[in-house]
Amino acid sequence: MEKKFKRTTVTSALPYANGPVHIGHLAGVYVPSDIYVRYLRLKKEDVLFIGGSDEHGVPITIRAKKEGITPQDVVDRYHTLIKDSFKEFGISFDVYSRTTSETHRRTASDFFRKLYEKGEFVEKTSMQYYDEEAQTFLADRYITGECPHCHAEGAYGDQCEKCGTSLSPTDLINPKSAISGSAPVMRETKHWYLPLDKHEEWLSKWILEDHKEWRNNVYGQCKSWLDMGLQPRAVSRDLDWGIPVPVEGAEGKVLYVWFDAPIGYISNTRELLPDTWEKWWKDPETRLVHFIGKDNIVFHCIVFPAMLKAEGSFILPDNVPSNEFLNLEGDKISTSRNWAVWLHEYLRDFPGKQDVLRYVLTANAPETKDNDFTWKDFQARNNNELVAVYGNFVNRALQLTQKYYDGVVPVCGELTDYDRETLNEFKDVKQKVEELLDVFKFRDAQKEAMNLARIGNKYIADCEPWKVVKTDPERVKTIIYISLQLTANLAIAFEPFLPFSSEKLRRMLNMESFEWTQLGSTDLLKAGHQLAKPELLFEKIEDEVIEAQVQKLLDTKKANEEASYKANPIRENIAFEDFQKLDIRVGTVLECTKVPKADKLLCFKIADGLENRTIVSGIAKYYNPEDLVGKQVCFIANLAPRKLKGIESQGMILSAVNFDETLSVVTVDREVKPGSEVG
Ligand code: MF3
Ligand code: ZN
Repeated sequence: MEKKFKRTTVTSALPYANGPVHIGHLAGVYVPSDIYVRYLRLKKEDVLFIGGSDEHGVPITIRAKKEGITPQDVVDRYHTLIKDSFKEFGISFDVYSRTTSETHRRTASDFFRKLYEKGEFVEKTSMQYYDEEAQTFLADRYITGECPHCHAEGAYGDQCEKCGTSLSPTDLINPKSAISGSAPVMRETKHWYLPLDKHEEWLSKWILEDHKEWRNNVYGQCKSWLDMGLQPRAVSRDLDWGIPVPVEGAEGKVLYVWFDAPIGYISNTRELLPDTWEKWWKDPETRLVHFIGKDNIVFHCIVFPAMLKAEGSFILPDNVPSNEFLNLEGDKISTSRNWAVWLHEYLRDFPGKQDVLRYVLTANAPETKDNDFTWKDFQARNNNELVAVYGNFVNRALQLTQKYYDGVVPVCGELTDYDRETLNEFKDVKQKVEELLDVFKFRDAQKEAMNLARIGNKYIADCEPWKVVKTDPERVKTIIYISLQLTANLAIAFEPFLPFSSEKLRRMLNMESFEWTQLGSTDLLKAGHQLAKPELLFEKIEDEVIEAQVQKLLDTKKANEEASYKANPIRENIAFEDFQKLDIRVGTVLECTKVPKADKLLCFKIADGLENRTIVSGIAKYYNPEDLVGKQVCFIANLAPRKLKGIESQGMILSAVNFDETLSVVTVDREVKPGSEVG
C-alpha cells in the first residue's frame, strides 16, 4: 500500500568546510537534490530543502595547523565560498547554515543529553595515545609512524596511504605525535558509545524488508554491514574542536563529527523555522529524503536512524538516494591532489554556463556506477545536444515567428496527420518525467525532456517552413504554431533541470506564468500572443576553450608527479651484497579472496615452485580478486612472516604505487616457472 505523505523534508549531505566544492559534489548530491526539490515545488507539494556546511572534524584542525590559522578561520573561509558556489548554480536551498552556529550547538547538545539521560549510550574506557608534551590525546590522524605492512614511513594512525591498509594507531611501529613530534604514551580515556548492536534487529527489518525499493547500491551496502554484525560506535572524541560533550566528567571531549553533523539538518531547519520545525521532523506524515554520496551510506542508513530512533520522537528517512562517484578524466577526484574541477573556477572560466554543467552532470550522473567526467564529453554534450538540438530548435521556432509574423503567435490552421502524430508524441512527456523523477532516475528523466526538443527539431526540419512559405503561407502558420507550443513545453519540462535556461526561454516567450500541470498541453501560447526578442539559448564551446581546461589538468598531473618524486627521492646507495639479501621470486596466483572485515586486504595462495604459500596484500581496493587468479606476480620470498588480521603472511607481493596512490601489481612479461628468481 502506498503511504500518503503531506510534506517532504529533503536534505543534502553537509559538505566539509575544509575546501571548495567540486563537480563531484554537484553531480553526486546537489544537482539531483535540487532537481527533485524543484520538481516537488512545481507540483505544489509542501517541501523543505535543507543544506549547510559541516564544520567539525579532525581534517579541519589539521588544515588550520598547517596554515597557522584557527579552525574557525578555515571554516569561515570555506563556508562562504561553498555557499556562494551553490547559490550561483541555482541549488535552491531553503536554508544553508553551518554546524558552528549557536542553534546547532544547542540542538546537538540537547540531542546528546537526551540520549544520555535515557541510558541510550554505553560508557567505555579504553587506552589511547596521549601526547605528554602537548598535553592532549591524539586523534588517529595525528599519529604517524612506520606501516607494519609495507614499512613505509609516515603512515597515519588510521591508514597507510602508501599501501592503503587501514590501521589502528597501535599497529604503527615507532609512533610519533604529529603535534609535538614526541613519542606518545598510552593513557586511559572514557567515551560514550551508541550500541548499534542493540539496534541491529529493527534496523535489519526496517531496511532489508521494508525498504527493498532503495537503490541497489544503498540496499547492498546496508545489507553487507548488517550481515557483518553491528558494533557499538564511539560518539565522542578527545579533541578541542567541536561541540563539548554536555555532561559532567567530559572535560576536553567533544561530540564526534559524525554524531553532530546529521543533527545539523535538524538545527538548520530549526534556524529557519523556529516555531514550526518539528512538523518537518516529527510528523509521521512527513517524508524524509536524504541525498548523499556513497561514502555516507552507513551514516545515513544505519547510524543516524539509530540515533533518531533512540531519541524517540523523530521520523526515519523514507529514502536515501545515494550516488556512486564521479571521476575526472579517468582518475579519482581528489582535493589534496587538486584533481578536480572546482565550482568557483568553473564559474570564472564559463560565466553564465551553470546550466551546461548541470546538464552534463545529470546526463552523465553516477546513479548506478562510478562515471567519468571528461572535458571532451562536456563539449560534445553542449555542442551536439544543448546547442544542436534544444537551442537549434528553439532558435528556429522563435526566429521564424519573428521573421514571418513580427513575433506574434499565428493562428493554427487545419492539422495534417503528421502534425497530429507530433502532438501525440509529446502529450505524455509529463507522465514519463514524473514517473522517473518519483524514483530518483534523474538522467532518464532529463533524457525525456531532451526528447521533446528532438521531436521539435525533427518536426521543423521535416516541415521545412522556410520552403513552404513560398508556396503555402497558410500552412506555415500551423507549423510555427505547433513549434511554439513545443518550445513552451520545453521551458516547463526543463525547469527542474536547467532553471536558468528555462527562465531565459520563458522571457523570450513572454510567458509570465506557467504551471507544471500544463506540461503536455498543445495550446500554451495563444494565437495573437506577442513574443519578446529571441536570443541564443546556448552557445557552441570551441576547441581552444576545452584544450585550455585539459591543459590545466595536465599541468596539475605533472606538478603532482614532480611533488611525488620530491617526496620520494631515490634512496641512498646500497652495497651489492645488501641487494643480494633480498630474495624476489615469481609466483602464480592459485587463489585470491577478500579478507573478511578488512576492506583493503586480499589473501593470496601463491604457487612458489616449492610448496604453496599464503600472502596477504593491501590491494583490495584496486583489484577484483577473481581477476588476479592465474596471474604471475613478483613477491619477496624471504621477508619474515607476520600476522595480518589473524592470517600469517609469508612474504610480500610487489606492486607499483602510481602518482594518485593507486596500486598496480608487478607481473612478468613472459610466463616463467613458478619460483623463478628475479634479479
Ligand atoms: N561532511 C560529510 C562528507 O562530506 C557529510 C556529512 S553529512 C551529514 O562526507 F549528515 F553528516 F551532515
Ligand atoms: Zn603501508
